[in-house]
Amino acid sequence: MSDDQKRRAGEAAAERVEAGMVVGLGTGSTAAWFVKALAARGLKDLRCVPTSEKTADLARELGLPLVSLEDVSKIDLTVDGADEVGPGLALIKGGGAALLREKLVWEASKSCIVIADAAKVVPVLGTFPLPIEVVAFGHKTTGNRIADVLLDHEITMPARARTAERGLVRTDGGNLIYDAKCGAIHDPVRLADDLKLITGVVEHGLFLDLADEAIIGKDDGIEVLLP
Ligand code: A5P
Repeated sequence: MSDDQKRRAGEAAAERVEAGMVVGLGTGSTAAWFVKALAARGLKDLRCVPTSEKTADLARELGLPLVSLEDVSKIDLTVDGADEVGPGLALIKGGGAALLREKLVWEASKSCIVIADAAKVVPVLGTFPLPIEVVAFGHKTTGNRIADVLLDHEITMPARARTAERGLVRTDGGNLIYDAKCGAIHDPVRLADDLKLITGVVEHGLFLDLADEAIIGKDDGIEVLLP
């Protein structure tokens, strides 16, 4: 079962943490298993940097000591989930709307481990809609420019602003999320570069050259993937 796979991956990643480390805590259901397993280890002198308010709440509840990214010069290890794990450990993230804080924490980390259930491993990125974080001001015009860039990449579906019951979804930073149904992303590096150039785009969910290792939960254990 996928939840057991997520738990196995989270528990295996928690074994990689050592006392005294500064640890980045990811967001999502798989990362939550990691946070629980880490708390259960009772390691001394940990300092944890959460990637979302939701993860911060869980970590606080479990008694993990929290610090903010501003309080640390470097993070030793970040463990986080993903929506897709592609070739070379290129990732799509942001299904939980935390991609900006996640990327800031990942980029400040000496080492990053992505944890996921087996269904997340894909031969080509793009089946999972690519999350793109945009500032709320003028977001429809930004959405139009995103659509133009997607067309350049032969992606014909425009990105859509993510909504929930109470309307437009807001990130922890107050921004909006546009989701782009790409189908297949043939050149993730070029798409990442092109999206970053759009005024109003804060960040996108392509995490390229950031994961050092993937721990994939299986029905009968785990599999470790390297880039
Ligand atoms: C959060 O913004 C995402 O990057 C998550 O890491 C991603 O959505 C994975 O979530 P699950 O572990 O719940 O599948």
